[in-house]
Amino acid sequence: MKRFVTGFVTGAVVLTFCVLGYVRLGLVDVRADTPAPAWATGWMYSVVHASVRRTVPPLKNPLPPGDETLIAGGKLYLNDCVGCHGAPGKPPSEFGATFYPPAPQLARSGTRYSEGEIFWIAKHGIQRTGMAAQGSSYSDQELWSMAAFISRISKLPPRVLAGIEEKTVKK
Ligand code: HEC
Repeated sequence: MKRFVTGFVTGAVVLTFCVLGYVRLGLVDVRADTPAPAWATGWMYSVVHASVRRTVPPLKNPLPPGDETLIAGGKLYLNDCVGCHGAPGKPPSEFGATFYPPAPQLARSGTRYSEGEIFWIAKHGIQRTGMAAQGSSYSDQELWSMAAFISRISKLPPRVLAGIEEKTVKK
């Protein structure tokens, strides 16, 4: 038992030094234009997802559900988020692919986050990614309308898709 414990502790210490050495010797490749290995993207996604799940309380969208909210959110999305996250019915964003991790193509794949989580991510951003905090650029109402839009982005009715392209919101 004693030998097992000694071996275990020695192994843990050696492993820790190897990891620290790898990092401190500058062996980590920090270029954003190297292809992200699937395990790294998956791992980063898990870290962010777990943190968002833990931090965000169950938030309910205070805006009335309906086309008007979706269209208002869609117009904001098309104005500011589309460059990285892609537009409905259009090819994926090439600019979004230049980030590490690449910006998720929301218009193509949707998202696994809830509306409240989308609101929170848009407001606070995600550290060390291209996802900037938008809380100082948009009111909570605007962020909620974008959250409503994004949470339904892969199954929007044609009238909403047409509405977001119009210059002004119909009253
Ligand atoms: C400059 C590029 C860029 C812009 C502009 C941008 N994002 Fe992002 N966004 C990212 C990146 C990169 C990620 C991935 C972060 C990660 O994997 O942890 C991301 C992730 C997200 C996610 C999480 C989606 C998921 O399923 O993982 C949401 C929600 C989101 N962005 C909303 C928005 C909204 C709303 C806007 C516009 C107000 C916006 N983003 C603008 C780059 C951008």
